[in-house]
Amino acid sequence: ANKKLSSARLTQPTDKFVEEFTASVQFDQRMFRQDIRGSIAHATMLAEVNVLTVDERDQIIAGLQQIEQEIESGDFEWSIAQEDVHMNIEARLIALIGEVGKKLHTGRSRNDQVATDVRLYLRDMIKPIAQQLNRLQEALLNVAEREAETIMPGFTHLQTAQPVTFGHHMMAWYEMLVRDAERLEDCAKRVNSLPLGAAALAGTTFPIDREMTASLLGFDRICLNSLDAVSDRDFAIEFNSFASILMMHLSRFSEELIIWSSAQFDFVDLGDAFCTGSSIMPQKKNPDVPELIRGKTSRVYGNMFNLLTLMKNQPLAYNKDNQEDKEPLFDTIDTLLGSLRVYADMMSVITVKADNMRQAALRGYATATDLADYLVRKGTPFRDAHEVVGLSVAYGIQHKKDLSELTLEELQQFSANIEQDVFEVLTLEGSVAARNHLGGTAPEQVKAAIQKARSKR
Ligand code: ARG
Repeated sequence: ANKKLSSARLTQPTDKFVEEFTASVQFDQRMFRQDIRGSIAHATMLAEVNVLTVDERDQIIAGLQQIEQEIESGDFEWSIAQEDVHMNIEARLIALIGEVGKKLHTGRSRNDQVATDVRLYLRDMIKPIAQQLNRLQEALLNVAEREAETIMPGFTHLQTAQPVTFGHHMMAWYEMLVRDAERLEDCAKRVNSLPLGAAALAGTTFPIDREMTASLLGFDRICLNSLDAVSDRDFAIEFNSFASILMMHLSRFSEELIIWSSAQFDFVDLGDAFCTGSSIMPQKKNPDVPELIRGKTSRVYGNMFNLLTLMKNQPLAYNKDNQEDKEPLFDTIDTLLGSLRVYADMMSVITVKADNMRQAALRGYATATDLADYLVRKGTPFRDAHEVVGLSVAYGIQHKKDLSELTLEELQQFSANIEQDVFEVLTLEGSVAARNHLGGTAPEQVKAAIQKARSKR
């Protein structure tokens, strides 16, 4: 039977299975660096306010540093009997430096300790997430730049609508990611607030200096209410909301990549490194990476509901329920990091099949709106123009010709307002070039948008 830290009141040992069931060390050990960093800051502050002597502080810090080494090098023995990362490290500290180790937990509780660790951990992970997001944005800008003049059919209802440039489409993705990056930055502000000092729930009788601890740990501010400090998990929910929206975007991109890489569309080529073959069908090149990201989006949504539901009926302050916050949060972090990384890699090597996209735009009568706008400029009311173009398209379909391939005489059957200059607007190039205003698809505008985006980075 184990002798627990809190066992003075308990006369029976913890049931073996309950011990395992209530432990979190299996998954919270990944916060060991943050736990040690937090303890070093706490001990440093305690010595500043004369709760620990300088010598005690130094012994504690040296012990904690040694433990970090042991864990880094795999020499640390994690124990389920010690329940969580906090008690495992504290027990080892006491084993290493003796009685002095027992003073570390003065003026602190695992409740404010764990809340601090999770915030520090999330803060540490937000950095690589922001970096990977940035890499993906860079990759999109590069594709957009390369394909600023490449014409593709733009869709509504997944039916060919009007020609756009591939660069314009990439910049649409880019804009979504700009908002995601802003959301992450905003969320990071609320993550960076220090709970430590709240102790179990009400604060502590020791003369602690929370501002000092905050500045030692690089927190911008402290959590102002001790009850809120130990029980708030909105920062994790907010991060997961950011993650859900970002994954929703990646999933939409993926859906397009999957469609575009099908034989029926054949617009893009995803690098071989991002696809797999089939064990039975030799002709296959499957877009596994985008499919998997579409699938992983549901995990992140699941984690979102997990966290929201976890919090919705907890009375103040700390409840053991909160231990369940870690696995969904960690899973979201891991999923996001992996998805962003693979997406940035994949978009760095994507190639587009300009000819196929061009043919698809031609097949779809993508310049029909241009003909209608042309007629309006020649004095035809828009509704009549719409009708004329409908008849022209029907004629084209019947004779297997694009609008630009009809002769002037053929077009004039439908309206006397059509003249020789109509052919300038019926070409795909003419169509995209004409949408030349802020936010439009004209190559000139796309290039300007890319430049503007680059200058803000
Ligand atoms: N492992 C716990 C958690 O993740 C640490 C805090 C435990 N506090 C307590 N009073 N039992 O939340």
